[in-house]
Amino acid sequence: MAKRELWGTRIGLILAMAGNAVGLGNFLRFPVQAAQNGGGAFMIPYFAAFLLLGIPLMWAEWSMGRLGGTRNHGTTPYIFHTLWRNPATKYIGVLGVVLPLGIAIYYVCIESWTMAFAYFSSVERYWGITTIEPMRAFLQSFQGVGSSEYFDGFEWAYLFFVLTMAINAFVLFRGVRSGIEILAKVAMPLLFLFAIGVAIRVATLGLMDTPPPHSIEGGFAFIWNPDLSRLGESGIWLAAAGQIFFTLSLAMGCIQVYASYLNEKDDLVMTGFTTAITNEFVEVVLGASIAIPVAFAFFGAIGTQEIAQGGSFNLGFAAMPVIFQQIPLGAFFGTLWFGLLFFAGITSSVALMTPAIAFLQDEFGWSRRKAVAVVVGIVFAAAHLIIFGLGHGTLDEMDFWCGTFGLALGALIESVMFFWIFGMDNAWRQLHLGAERRVPRFFYPIMKVVTPLYCLVLFAAWGYQNGWDVLTMKNVAEADRL
Ligand code: PHE
Repeated sequence: MAKRELWGTRIGLILAMAGNAVGLGNFLRFPVQAAQNGGGAFMIPYFAAFLLLGIPLMWAEWSMGRLGGTRNHGTTPYIFHTLWRNPATKYIGVLGVVLPLGIAIYYVCIESWTMAFAYFSSVERYWGITTIEPMRAFLQSFQGVGSSEYFDGFEWAYLFFVLTMAINAFVLFRGVRSGIEILAKVAMPLLFLFAIGVAIRVATLGLMDTPPPHSIEGGFAFIWNPDLSRLGESGIWLAAAGQIFFTLSLAMGCIQVYASYLNEKDDLVMTGFTTAITNEFVEVVLGASIAIPVAFAFFGAIGTQEIAQGGSFNLGFAAMPVIFQQIPLGAFFGTLWFGLLFFAGITSSVALMTPAIAFLQDEFGWSRRKAVAVVVGIVFAAAHLIIFGLGHGTLDEMDFWCGTFGLALGALIESVMFFWIFGMDNAWRQLHLGAERRVPRFFYPIMKVVTPLYCLVLFAAWGYQNGWDVLTMKNVAEADRL
């Protein structure tokens, strides 16, 4: 068998892993989740989940991935089977190939809209549409699901979609070191630069004469004033944990597959931790400093929460374009905003497709070219279902089941398998092979007891409080129950 590829440089690895984690989740999903779940009420379970679930699982997945990689297998069917020699584990592991592929299918669609909107911002294509509702109509018209007021058909959407797929395919064809790693080295610094630029623009907006009570400060206060009153709602805890998994790319097989291109001399402790911290910096410092505060300034507290309740894309694709038209140099900042979303998106979508590609290479001995062609082909074909099935709430529904519920379940399974069945002492040893620094000892009991139990309690409480209503669709508005 050909020798397994390895990452070229340490910085390349860190940027690729950060690119994997930093994605649309940081800039689009996080603000919407925070606004829908009470702002300051969300941030407490969010940080709890980061410390007790996010960091331990990040280390666990790096360790599992490298363990598999040193034996020339990078995906969870093999890895789970190595942890627990039970015939069923191979099949459970298939989740770590299929789930990311399922997410990739809608993720690439959203990514293609960001590229299109970067272009539309630069040419001021939506200038003159100055309120939310018509801006939503613009987005829908672009997607080919609304009226043809702004676009005759979906040719534009299709063009950008094909372009996005082509770039993804190009990067993946080139492989780990000359494709994914180089993409990360180019896209990540640009993303940081753009995000800092937009965030500074937002922070200086406070000087504009937006009338009280609409203020930038109000937006920051909404997220950063802890609110203890809703801590008893299990739905908020589940949403916060779901966001932590999603944003850190956990419980999906994607971190493992990237980590499988490491060897036993590589440090996991510091690099894994750096990935997690970088992602959180981008999410809670940059991500939280853009969409929510500006929306607060222009639409007020109630308005912002209504916009977020109205759907996942309203803040990013409707509220932000309305705002760009009202600020100086709006076209420039609009292009930066959607450009940074595109960079965030593409470094994650290649990660979402990698498990399936690596699975075909490792388990069936396929060449990279063949594996890439097949996987990209599947995503391309399946995405047509999304392109033509939009407007039925499918996306939000898929996001809850895959992006929140499925991930929490995946996290429970892998934490039990790695920390309990493989065993905490073995896990600890794996993590420390090649380590430059040791993990503080208090993480040992956290990983052994707290992380798996946390996942378990999350399910029990959610099932008890909301599960039945969600399963029987009692929570769905009458009009949407078709
Ligand atoms: N973490 C990415 C984001 O925040 C999404 C993702 C999940 C990417 C899993 C790869 C794997 O958008």
